[in-house]
Amino acid sequence: MGAEPLEIHLDDRDLSRSLRRDVRLGLTATEKWLPPKWFYDSRGSELFDEITRLPEYYPTRAERAVLAARATEIAELTGAKTLIELGSGSSEKTRLLLDACTQRGGLGTFVPLDVSVSALAGSTAALAADYPGLRVRGIVGDFTRHLDRLPTGGRRLVIFLGGTIGNLLPDERAEFVAGMRAALEAGDWLLVGTDLVKDPAVIVPAYDDAAGVTAEFNRNVLRVLNRELDADFDPAGFAHVALWNAEHEWIEMRLRAERSMRVRVLDLDVDFAAGEDLRTEVSAKFRPEGIAGELAAAGFRTERFWTDPDGLFGVTLARAA
Ligand code: AVJ
Repeated sequence: MGAEPLEIHLDDRDLSRSLRRDVRLGLTATEKWLPPKWFYDSRGSELFDEITRLPEYYPTRAERAVLAARATEIAELTGAKTLIELGSGSSEKTRLLLDACTQRGGLGTFVPLDVSVSALAGSTAALAADYPGLRVRGIVGDFTRHLDRLPTGGRRLVIFLGGTIGNLLPDERAEFVAGMRAALEAGDWLLVGTDLVKDPAVIVPAYDDAAGVTAEFNRNVLRVLNRELDADFDPAGFAHVALWNAEHEWIEMRLRAERSMRVRVLDLDVDFAAGEDLRTEVSAKFRPEGIAGELAAAGFRTERFWTDPDGLFGVTLARAA
């Protein structure tokens, strides 16, 4: 069977409304910021895929190593009937789990949820072709808003990979984990990938690579604003900055104005002083006890915690209590 038609909970008008709200909020703040979700237009998604292949960017390889080593165990422990992936993108690492779950038998449905129609259209068609007999139901939605739209019934395993949970700010993260627990029933499973706290000398280059791909990825958000909101940012006037924040244990990406600039966006004149920063992303790094604690506070019991052999990246399997 082919992929089912995408279920759309987010259309261009919703997206444009939330982009305008975020831009107004973030660019009028004393410390300017933008949420990282606006990086991912088709160019941004391609640049991110390129990042995952960079020598400095260890998270993707490390997480893949964990999944490759543990997929069978995950399939056996969970006995998943429905596999749901949040922020699925290209669903590349997910194949390790789909292979294990289909080999074990019992997996009936795969539900990728993503904001990007183009990413979902591509991944659902490819997966439906490669896994005959698997129902593939793509959902276009935002994992911070549409957890109540997930399919119900049958043992569910929700996966949230790549360390994307670290792109939420602490309050947003708590709200997300609580919402996730509310969307699940006792006995359902959650698999979360988290990058771990380590020497900043390893983390910083992963977000400031020698080839400059991450810098282009970072500046891409300005191109998105220029195109979608008819703004007049000069992306070349901003330098890419990756900073380790030791207090919060997260890495921040910023765009630093190299000269003073006035940018027109929506009905706003946004002034940048020379050297002023626009924060475009935080990517939190975790400690094992921190992850388990946050999950427990929301009603999840951690059943397994694995890392890659170098201890760079963690994968937690938790169960709704
Ligand atoms: C989306 C969480 C996988 O925070 O590491 C990569 C995005 N930002 N390089 C991360 C990202 C800069 C990434 N994840």
